[in-house]
Amino acid sequence: MEHAAPPAWVMLAYLISGVFFILALRGLSSPATSQQGNRFGMAGMLIAVVTTLVTHEVASLPEILGAIFIGGGIGWVTARKIAMTDMPQLVAAFHSLVGMAAVLVAAAAFLNPEAFGINGADGLINPVSRVEMGLGIAIGAITFSGSVIAFLKLAGKMSGAPIMLPMRHVINLGTLTAILGLIGYFTVDQSPWIFWTITALAFVIGFLLIIPIGGADMPVVVSMLNSYSGWAAAAMGFTLHNTAMIITGALVGSSGAILSYIMCKAMNRSFISVIAGGFGAEAAATGGPAKEQRPWKRGSAEDAAYMMQQAESVIIVPGYGMAVAQAQHILREMADVLKKQGVSVKYAIHPVAGRMPGHMNVLLAEAQVPYDEVFELEDINSEFAQTDVAFIIGANDVVNPAAKTDKTSPIYGMPVFDVDKAKTVFFVKRSMGGVGYAGVDNDVFYMDQTMMLLADAKKMCEDIVKALQH
Ligand code: TAP
Repeated sequence: MEHAAPPAWVMLAYLISGVFFILALRGLSSPATSQQGNRFGMAGMLIAVVTTLVTHEVASLPEILGAIFIGGGIGWVTARKIAMTDMPQLVAAFHSLVGMAAVLVAAAAFLNPEAFGINGADGLINPVSRVEMGLGIAIGAITFSGSVIAFLKLAGKMSGAPIMLPMRHVINLGTLTAILGLIGYFTVDQSPWIFWTITALAFVIGFLLIIPIGGADMPVVVSMLNSYSGWAAAAMGFTLHNTAMIITGALVGSSGAILSYIMCKAMNRSFISVIAGGFGAEAAATGGPAKEQRPWKRGSAEDAAYMMQQAESVIIVPGYGMAVAQAQHILREMADVLKKQGVSVKYAIHPVAGRMPGHMNVLLAEAQVPYDEVFELEDINSEFAQTDVAFIIGANDVVNPAAKTDKTSPIYGMPVFDVDKAKTVFFVKRSMGGVGYAGVDNDVFYMDQTMMLLADAKKMCEDIVKALQH
């Protein structure tokens, strides 16, 4: 049975939902419009789901509605309960579901091609549909197993250190070539063993591709898997003749690819070297860096309050530790007090500060920090040389000058904030022993103009606010 083209109104409805998705992406590009963007996304999804339900012979509407309520309910509860610091692994877990959905749709289409209208006149599955199915199941399976490994690594349920198999490049390349070869062969022979071998190999390659990738590259991997899940959905959209799915899949696929590119640039990593894996192996292999015994100065909350009151300008650099301590609200209060006292306060956000893209922006927005006080790396970096105080709170790698000078450092080449050029630096962290994500020492701790404020970030800000109000 050949598939009939859907009525015009259906195409129009899918087109409108596609436009809503594009508006959603546009809205999500700025914290100020992100809520509106989310609403557009929800409206687009509602139109797409309702259109699909009313135009298809749905075997059992109650079952579908039941599944929507159960899945939606789990999503709602999880999203409300999840701590912001656990967001990366949640995203990885969600991607694994998209991958599995693509696998299940492709498998259903293969087992029951009649129902999907993809059989040709000869009773066999159309060769074009076989390619779509092969690609859909392969990308879906890679996304699934890759995301499961990313989830386990990010959640700390599996070591974040790269696991290097001997000859892994040969094995990976061989497996990928075999998958592509089998998809080609599948167009002339639709024997089940070919289909299921593609599936099995794709599950294995997803696993093999992600295990050698070290923790520091995980953000890129998560957005790459996000991109894959989009392409898997788009491939399945072709099999299902569903325009909305093709549009959405392409949007997710391309936006994920662009985000991966932006993050690679922010960390000065090439996409190929991320995929090839192994970053962070050195620090992990040696059990972390050797700590140097160098002199450093300890400051107090009162010192920080005094110096910042005297300053004309303060630039705050938040990082992962601010998120862990949930210090964003009290930090904003500290900035408010300083602003009332005539100090100019700005926030400097590094693209990979924290543990997920936009991590700091989300937290600062939650604490109602005005958007016009928040600056990206390239917009503010030149200002450190003229600023009186750089206040680093829970950030570490993103201010480490070794990225500029030490070719042997694992973060070499990553653009970092020039905090070393500020007149005075306050560095909030809990202990001198704690290192950042990349596990390397930081010269800023030992600079003449640096004072270490060793405490939990929230507690330190509370004490500074008290001292400022005296
Ligand atoms: P990090 O370099 O990870 O440093 C975090 C700092 O916070 C440490 O110095 C730690 O020192 C301190 N800290 C932890 N808990 C604290 C608390 N309760 N109170 C005060 N300080 C606390 O952070 P960063 O500068 O934001 O850099 C991000 C790193 O993560 C980069 O290497 C990046 O590549 C990587 N990464 C980024 C992402 C994305 S997409 N943003 C995802 C995964 C990985 P103590 O332990 O001594 O307190």
